[in-house]
Amino acid sequence: MKNHITIRLKTAAAVLMVGALCMAHAQTPIKDVLAQIDPATGKAKDTATEFSVSGVVAAKLALPDQKVLAFVHTPGEPALAVLADAKDGARLLPRNVLKLAGRLGEGPIGAVLVLSPGSLSVMESNKMFASVPVSETLFKDATALAGRYVQLTNVTFAPGKFDVSGKIKVKCAEGSEVTLLLGKAAANRDVPGETTDVFGVIVKSGNEWQLAVARLLPATRKQSQAIAEKRMCLSCHNPDTYQVGPAYRDVAAKYRNDPEAIGKLIAQMENGGTGKWGTNVMIPLKALVPPEEMKTLAHWVYSYRWDALLAE
Ligand code: HEC
Repeated sequence: MKNHITIRLKTAAAVLMVGALCMAHAQTPIKDVLAQIDPATGKAKDTATEFSVSGVVAAKLALPDQKVLAFVHTPGEPALAVLADAKDGARLLPRNVLKLAGRLGEGPIGAVLVLSPGSLSVMESNKMFASVPVSETLFKDATALAGRYVQLTNVTFAPGKFDVSGKIKVKCAEGSEVTLLLGKAAANRDVPGETTDVFGVIVKSGNEWQLAVARLLPATRKQSQAIAEKRMCLSCHNPDTYQVGPAYRDVAAKYRNDPEAIGKLIAQMENGGTGKWGTNVMIPLKALVPPEEMKTLAHWVYSYRWDALLAE
């Protein structure tokens, strides 16, 4: 009899717990939260409701006041801007799949979801998603693609360094200019020296449409990738995920502050090695890969450092 009551009590407790979990997990689709932002004024209509959402981080900007502005989306749909303090912001990394909650409020560029402290959980990291290719002319009026994760191709930077403003104007293939937002992480770094494809989220700042950047990759990367294919690098490596050898974006992240990086990457190709990333062995390739191709491959691998720099 006693046992019977215990079981019934346990069942009741389990039912209550499941109920509570369901309530805590009641999610609002991101597009419904975005519908609470007035497109004309950029202001929030509902600042009282706490919304729980889930999505993937498309881009992240480290703000000068230590806060973090991130753009969270359901891949293929517009992103919601989320504002967090430095601690939570450290987990708002591009390609993290998250659950989080917050209320709409004023942000540095229009309305944002102000993160409720302690509400953020990371479900998965390094989730891949596709971009929409866009033309620079779109930036005159990007209303139709607001919040979308896009790819702007063949961008050139005037030689020099990124400054502390976290913004830079770049030249596009057809000749017009677009302002990129990179946050403070890029400050004092050399700009890419080659023609670059820029991946990020289209946002409105004041009256100007700009691009919040998540990724910068050389426009020539397809050629480099073809060399990597031909020289068997890709039988052991993938740019984005660990296989037999490390992901190139992890290699680039490791050397992001190392002025000798290119030389070290070439030395790895020439001599091979083991022990830095586990017990798998990379064979020496000096006899198989011409020096010019090694240089191209090293610059290509190192270009993935922007993923890490822009996530800082
Ligand atoms: C047989 C599999 C294999 C092939 C083929 C291969 N790699 Fe590797 N690579 C590895 C492994 C395993 C490691 C990790 C070694 C370690 O832990 O020290 C590695 C590490 C690296 C690193 C990181 C070096 C560092 O200092 O952290 C670079 C860069 C690299 N490989 C580039 C290349 C390139 C470019 C090619 C083609 C030219 C290539 N690899 C071909 C397996 C391979």
